[in-house]
Amino acid sequence: MRIAILGCGYVGLVTGACLAEIGHSVVCTDNDESKIETLNQGSLPIYEPGLQEIVDRCVAAQRLSFTTNLGEAVRHGDTIFICVGTPPLPNGDADLSSIDAAARLIATESRSSKLVVEKSTVPMQTGQNLARALTIYSRKSSHTFSVASNPEFLREGTAVLDFLHPDRIVIGVNDEQTEGMLREIYQPVLQRSVVPCPVHKGSCPVKEAPTLLVTSISSAELIKHASNSFLAVKISYANLIADICESMGADVEEVVLGMGLDPRIGPAFLRPGLGFGGFCFPKDIQAFIRLGERAGVDVSLLRDAEVINKRRVDQFLAKATHYLWTLKQKRIGVLGLAFKPNTDDIRFAPAIELISKLLQEHAQVQVFDPKAMTKSRSLFPSIRYCQDAYQVAEHAEALLIATEWEEFKNLDWERIKTLMQRPLVLDGRNLLDAQQMQAMGFEYQGIGIPVTQAAAETARAVALR
Ligand code: UDX
Repeated sequence: MRIAILGCGYVGLVTGACLAEIGHSVVCTDNDESKIETLNQGSLPIYEPGLQEIVDRCVAAQRLSFTTNLGEAVRHGDTIFICVGTPPLPNGDADLSSIDAAARLIATESRSSKLVVEKSTVPMQTGQNLARALTIYSRKSSHTFSVASNPEFLREGTAVLDFLHPDRIVIGVNDEQTEGMLREIYQPVLQRSVVPCPVHKGSCPVKEAPTLLVTSISSAELIKHASNSFLAVKISYANLIADICESMGADVEEVVLGMGLDPRIGPAFLRPGLGFGGFCFPKDIQAFIRLGERAGVDVSLLRDAEVINKRRVDQFLAKATHYLWTLKQKRIGVLGLAFKPNTDDIRFAPAIELISKLLQEHAQVQVFDPKAMTKSRSLFPSIRYCQDAYQVAEHAEALLIATEWEEFKNLDWERIKTLMQRPLVLDGRNLLDAQQMQAMGFEYQGIGIPVTQAAAETARAVALR
């Protein structure tokens, strides 16, 4: 099928490349010409495992192309996926102006009828506004536009896997013809006939075919916000439990393990730490709060999850102050900048907030991240960007783990200990094993792990602030 992708951010690029990979003819466009130039030079504007290979293969097979000519892209697609950004406005609402602009572009540039699919994360009722805008902007033409919602659930770092092996595909439609077109587009994924599987190189362990859930457009839009907000609440719940563990003397890792064994709860997204970041959860829970308020619904559950999340970095910083007394002029190493491992994305990353607060305390900060250094340099020109984790440890009086990159777990921690001025490790992601670290002679403090009485009092004081 002939498909156009408007917007080449995470969602657009992964969607476009994977739709080409499963056999469609895809043209991607973006009004950021430098992004298209980068793509046409054969590189990606983002780091996403497995994506470069798929883009190279599909471009070579002439199933995927990138153009700055917005109209040409629109005219290529019988189906147009809107994947533009919907960043938060100051009041927390999602900024839908790019969706509106996409409607105007589609209505004015189309030379035939189109299926227009919302893929960006949007609040409920956006589909209705989109349909109305398309009708208004195309009142001089005879073409018709059907609208559908197809929210994506891909996670950064595993986006290609999530697209080709989704748990479910949700399509919000108004009619059977639209349902039929989207079912045909996703057929190879639904029938698991993408062979060889680009993620598993042929020996694909995934057996179950994903569920195709057909709903109304409004329900599909709500499924996305509700799902992300639920996961955010689950993470904040785990962090709430961690605070109780720290204050009262239990081990959160044992507690969440016990909780997660109940299939009604499940182990996923119960990892306590520095809180959720990234370009989705923080803005989606805010937009969902705003939607709930407009609906006249009490959204205090979501608000509290947000408040718990916003406190995580301050609580972690209070721990550092507890151990270091004051932070001024202290040399502090930070491992991890990205909002989570396997991505170079630092948007709303707790690590970034942590570093800016350490700098406010006039600490000397040295950092390392396997992928996110380039994107951070412009943010903090004054800090020391190290070659590797060992350089971060040099003369450090504390090492703070902010992102749980697997490679940090496999470091030579004996060597790290010799490099540090004081073997103090504060683990904001419970990446390391407390007993092993303490047995090696480190002062080690995780999240929600039993601590000294003094540190418990600090944690209690900060939690109640
Ligand atoms: C999320 C959703 O998972 C995905 O379905 C949606 O399409 C987009 O938003 P993403 O933002 O890439 O994906 O990251 P995710 O893996 O969900 O992690 C979000 C944040 O929560 C990260 O900061 C992560 O560190 C944190 N997190 C996640 C926890 O603190 N604890 C957990 O148990 C899981």
